[in-house]
Amino acid sequence: MRLSVIGCGYLGAVHAAAMTSIGHEVVGIDIDPRKVDALSRGEAPFFEPGLQDILTEGVASGRLTFTTDIAAAAGAAVHFVGVGTPQQQGGHAADLSHVNEAFDALLPHLREGDVVAGKSTVPVGTAAGLAPRVEAAGATLVWNPEFLREGWAVQDTIDPDRLVAGVPATPAGERAAQVLREVYHPAVAKGTPFIVTDYATAELVKVAANAFLATKISFINAMAEIAEVTGADVTQLADAIGHDARIGRKFLGAGIGFGGGCLPKDIRAFAARAEELGRRESVAFLREVDAINMRRRDRAVELVVDALGGVVHGKKVAVLGAAFKPFSDDVRDSPALDAAVRLNGLGADVVITDPQAIENARRLHPQLTYEVDRDTTLRDADAVLVVTEWDEYRRQMSAAHVSALTHGRVVVDGRNCLDAAEWRAAGWTYHGMGRP
Ligand code: UDX
Repeated sequence: MRLSVIGCGYLGAVHAAAMTSIGHEVVGIDIDPRKVDALSRGEAPFFEPGLQDILTEGVASGRLTFTTDIAAAAGAAVHFVGVGTPQQQGGHAADLSHVNEAFDALLPHLREGDVVAGKSTVPVGTAAGLAPRVEAAGATLVWNPEFLREGWAVQDTIDPDRLVAGVPATPAGERAAQVLREVYHPAVAKGTPFIVTDYATAELVKVAANAFLATKISFINAMAEIAEVTGADVTQLADAIGHDARIGRKFLGAGIGFGGGCLPKDIRAFAARAEELGRRESVAFLREVDAINMRRRDRAVELVVDALGGVVHGKKVAVLGAAFKPFSDDVRDSPALDAAVRLNGLGADVVITDPQAIENARRLHPQLTYEVDRDTTLRDADAVLVVTEWDEYRRQMSAAHVSALTHGRVVVDGRNCLDAAEWRAAGWTYHGMGRP
C-alpha cells in the first residue's frame, strides 16, 4: 500500500521505516529540512537498535522517501500523523499545536476514501474534534495509538503486543479499521489482538497504559522510601511480590525513577485533561506518582553528598549514564542527567559518561563535563554514581577494575544494577536505592 507518515521524529521515523520493511511504499514528511535530508540519505537521526538497517534498506529500495512537501501525501491510502505533543510551556497540559498544524496542512491533500490514522498521544476528546474536518474531505479518521518503547521501537512497531483502532461507529469506520488491518498484515496474520474501539477509548488506552506503568514504578519507589527507614531491601521485596502473577516483576525496578519523552509528560497531561473534564480527583494519585518519582532524584544526590561527608565541593563525582534508560541516546527528562546537574550545582566536580547520549546531553547542558571513555571518567573519582543501567556498567565493569582507577571507594547505585556483595568485598561503600 502507499502510505504517508507526517512527522518524522522518534515515532514517525521508526514507523515509516518499519512500514517499508513490511512491504509498503512510504513517504515520510517533516517540516525540518535537516531531519528530512538525513533520513533521505538513509541516516538514522537518533540511536535506536535496528532502525539504521531498515532505513538503509528502505531508502535503497526506492520505496521509502522523505520530503518537507506535504503535497507528497496525496495519493497515499493511509496517512499516519505522528507529530509530537510536548508538555505546554508553563503548564502541565499537552501542547497540541503540532497536531493541529499537521492536520491543517494535510487536509487539502486528502482524497475521497483516504484513511487518516492519528498516532500521536493526545488528550481524550482530540480525535472527536478533528474527525468532522477529515470527513468533510471525504476521508475517515482512525485513532491508532503507538505503544513503542525506545530501544525496542522497531520490534514494537512491526510486532506489537496489541493494535488499537478507534473509529466512528459507521460503515466508513468499519472500512477504515479493515484498511488498518491490511497495513499491519504480518502482526494481524499471527493473531496479534486487534481491538476496535471508539475514539475516546483508543485515546485513553494509550494514556492509561502509560499512567499504569508510571504508577507501578512509583509504587516500588515508594516502597524503597519505606525500606530506607526500616532497613528492608526493596529488590528482594520486588522479587517476592513479583512472583504473584497478578502483580508481576516487570516495571518493579526501584531506583532513580522514570524519565524520557513519554511517561513524565503523559501523566501530567492526563491529570490536566482530567481536571478540564471535572474529574481532577480520579487521577489525583498521578500527582503523587510524579512527586515520588522526582524525590528519587533528590535521594540519589543525597546519598552521594552524605557518602562524601556532607560536602561535595571540589570532590570528583563520576556519573555513569546520561540517557533516561539503556539502549537509547534520549536525555529528555532524564533522571540520570538531572542528578548530574544537581551535583554540579552543589559544587561537585562532575564528569559524565554514556555510551550513546553524550552529544544530546551536551546540547542540553553544555556547562557540564563529558567524557567518552568510561575509565577516564572514573580516574581519580571520589565517588561513582551509576544512573543508567548500560551493560558497560552493569555487566562489563568489575569492582576490582574500578578500584584501580578511582581515588575514593564510594559507589551509589541509582539503578540497583550492581552486585552489592562484589563491591563491598572489594572494599567499597555501596549504596543502593531502598537497600540496606
Ligand atoms: C514508555 C512506554 O513503556 C511505552 O509503551 C510508551 O509507548 C512510551 O513510554 P519508554 O519511554 O521508551 O516507553 O520507556 P520505558 O521502558 O517505559 O521506561 C521509562 C522509564 O522508566 C525509564 O526512565 C526507565 O529507566 C524507568 N523504569 C522502567 C524504572 O525506573 N523502573 C522500571 O522497573 C522500569
